[in-house]
Amino acid sequence: MKRVAVYPGAFDPPTYGHLDVIKRARHLFDRVVVAVLENPGKRCLFSVDERMKALGEITKGMKGVEISRFKGLLVNYVKMRNACAVVRGLRAVSDYEYELQMAQMNRELSTRIETVFLMTSTPYSYLSSSIVKEIAGFGGDVSKFVPPAVERMLKKKYAVGKSRL
Ligand code: PNS
Repeated sequence: MKRVAVYPGAFDPPTYGHLDVIKRARHLFDRVVVAVLENPGKRCLFSVDERMKALGEITKGMKGVEISRFKGLLVNYVKMRNACAVVRGLRAVSDYEYELQMAQMNRELSTRIETVFLMTSTPYSYLSSSIVKEIAGFGGDVSKFVPPAVERMLKKKYAVGKSRL
């Protein structure tokens, strides 16, 4: 039986840190479903479609990786996809409490689902989508932190924002 994992997140925008987790998860599972959360309550810079497009571009040619979206409870989506695990990246101790709470709550909601944590590779341990947005918003160089397709999206988004000021 094929082992499927869901890698959920906001991915606003996806970074090299996310890509690293996707690649490494793909070595552990037959299929990795990268799932963008549709959350109208959370203000994101990019629409779900834009984030899915970016994820599709940066994972182009990677076998066994699928880009998708989900609404509502993660455990329901994981069950619907017949996945056995949720994958999350862990950067630092600061991530731990939130991730532990989510993993435990998800296990409470469905005992069949395990959360697998991948320790972020060292070069990405300080990287986050929020920091990338801040740097890009002030015109800084983010080429070390995000793939070229995402860098282009950021430049476009902030250029449009400036022209509206
Ligand atoms: O990239 P993020 O914002 O850290 O991802 C958080 C995410 C999407 C994994 C989490 O918010 C989530 O699973 N939301 C779906 C709703 C849900 O299932 N909530 C209960 C989790 S304990």
